[in-house]
Amino acid sequence: MNHHVTGRANARGISLADQDETQLGGPASVLVRQKREHVRLDHLLDGLQGTSGAEQNRVLIRIYRLVFPHAFAEESVLWPVIRRVLPDGEALTRQVEEEHQEVNELVTRLDGELLDPSERRQVLDRLVEVLREDVRDEEDALLPGLQRQLSVSQLRRLGVAWELVRRTAPTRPHPVVSRRPPGNALAALPLTVLDNLRDLCEVAAHRSPRTAPALNNVSHALAQAAGRVERLGALRRGERNLTSVENR
Ligand SMILES: [Fe+2]
Ligand SMILES: [Fe+2]
Repeated sequence: MNHHVTGRANARGISLADQDETQLGGPASVLVRQKREHVRLDHLLDGLQGTSGAEQNRVLIRIYRLVFPHAFAEESVLWPVIRRVLPDGEALTRQVEEEHQEVNELVTRLDGELLDPSERRQVLDRLVEVLREDVRDEEDALLPGLQRQLSVSQLRRLGVAWELVRRTAPTRPHPVVSRRPPGNALAALPLTVLDNLRDLCEVAAHRSPRTAPALNNVSHALAQAAGRVERLGALRRGERNLTSVENR
């Protein structure tokens, strides 16, 4: 438990926003790693609102690469710990899982549907809103709760575990996959390989307009392969009704 923290306190502890890196347990701590990525996300979201067209798409891809591995590692490493150590961990994690699920669905719409400009605006505005809510729930409630229950060395060990999973996690939305272990962990490897290939195709397509149609076809085929991986029965194990998506 950390007794040296000062700042805005609530029933759960002190928001990560009001603590510096030393108070949060130093660079290895899961709290510092979380907060750093939340700050990066905040800048990218500002960038999203100030851009349009191809430039906005590039910002979106950077947001996906940040957000999906980040959330995947939260769901497989952090939330199970929070459910064990906090009496209301079940309700708290269910709320952020629903936020993550909504992000998956919004991004799937942005990527896959032909939206008219006003629909696209609405989907983007909601995406920014949900991502900011998710950060506030984590920084103000879940993570201060975790901080009160774990020692600094436990926070650091958890930080290393979260980072390892984050680095090998999928970079795309997969709304059909379970939001909970073990389904999400089984899905990670094949989906990560497919997602990384799609990222490469899209970056290459941006660079070279001549080969872009061919690369976009490859990217589309990879997306379909990922869809088939997601539908494998085992990957849906661990799912709760609330965040389950049927018949897509
Ligand atoms: Fe987070
Ligand atoms: Fe999150």
